[in-house]
Amino acid sequence: MSDALNDALTPIGLLAELTHRCPLRCPYCSNPVELERRSSELDTATWCRVLSEAAALGVLHVHLSGGEPTARSDIETITAHCAKVGLYSNLITSGIGIALEKLRGLVEAGLDHVQLSIQAADAARADSIAHLKGAHDQKLAFARHVIELDLPLTINAVIHRGNIDSVSDILDLAVSLGAKRVEIAHTQYYGWAFVNRAALMPTRAEVDRSIALVEAAREQLQGRIVIDLVVPDYYAKYPKACAGGWGRRLMNVSPSGKVLPCHAAETIPGLTFWSVHDHSLADIWARSPAFEAFRGTAWMQEPCRSCERRERDWGGCRCQALALTGNAASTDPACHLSPHHSLIQTLAAAESAAPSPTPIYRGFGASAGRQHIGETA
Ligand code: SF4
Ligand code: FES
Repeated sequence: MSDALNDALTPIGLLAELTHRCPLRCPYCSNPVELERRSSELDTATWCRVLSEAAALGVLHVHLSGGEPTARSDIETITAHCAKVGLYSNLITSGIGIALEKLRGLVEAGLDHVQLSIQAADAARADSIAHLKGAHDQKLAFARHVIELDLPLTINAVIHRGNIDSVSDILDLAVSLGAKRVEIAHTQYYGWAFVNRAALMPTRAEVDRSIALVEAAREQLQGRIVIDLVVPDYYAKYPKACAGGWGRRLMNVSPSGKVLPCHAAETIPGLTFWSVHDHSLADIWARSPAFEAFRGTAWMQEPCRSCERRERDWGGCRCQALALTGNAASTDPACHLSPHHSLIQTLAAAESAAPSPTPIYRGFGASAGRQHIGETA
């Protein structure tokens, strides 16, 4: 990387995937198909060293994520270390199990923000999607405790054909819980979600209705809650700047310490991911072959190469380009200028019109199982 580029690019966010262990089994999970085992997870001292390096590199926000990050017995220590080195910490949690018990300790450790996932607005459907009875009620109790402890709360709901008719109820629930922000995040088809795409894909009419509903709610609820909308790539005209552009804003550290430019980068064959065991974060950011592979615009093919938007969306998502075209350097097919755009539209139309196939619930290896969304968990 040139010195000029080096000066201009500083990562502002670090996704710390503390563990892939999770009590839920959502079919839309965007974690990799092959999860990393507990035995390979970084130890406490290494995470603290990585967080110190992140702060020194200029990172501002750390997302403590997973899996379920509170499954780690050292979550308070890791959170306290974020506070010590001046990193804003966001706990991305299911709110299930031990999370409630640990919340007060996390606040005392200096936790800044909580992002809680919900699967639907009603318990029966939410528990069915998460494949865990009682999960929704535990989540509501967790959310109330977050508010009691005076922590800012964001509700995140991943939207798919199994819950797209309840976007309005999800917004109402977020308001009633006292959340400051709610994310209506249409499923991104990476990792496990890609396996279940046909079971999750809504129709264009359903998507259009949900987007119109969010736009109206933004006006009605202005000043009470912020509504973020992640639009579905398969019905988009332009792609999103995935991860803020490859190697531009974010670093993702896997449970075992591999440092990735994005969540799904390991699906791209031929990339070499450096580990925090062998290199500092600063070294990885500046010199890792994986970060260099698609940074900037030099790697682009047409139509991106000569497109006026190439430094706005950075050609979209490399992982999606690979998954749908077989070439990670091609234009993201979510873009209407891509020669493969009709493929993505045809896929979405065909899959959403067909009866939903049985989704495969998330799990470690043999624990994954098939059951229709809507059946009792
Ligand atoms: Fe973005 Fe490439 Fe499409 Fe232009 S052609 S809008 S740079 S994805
Ligand atoms: Fe990898 Fe979009 S998920 S670049």
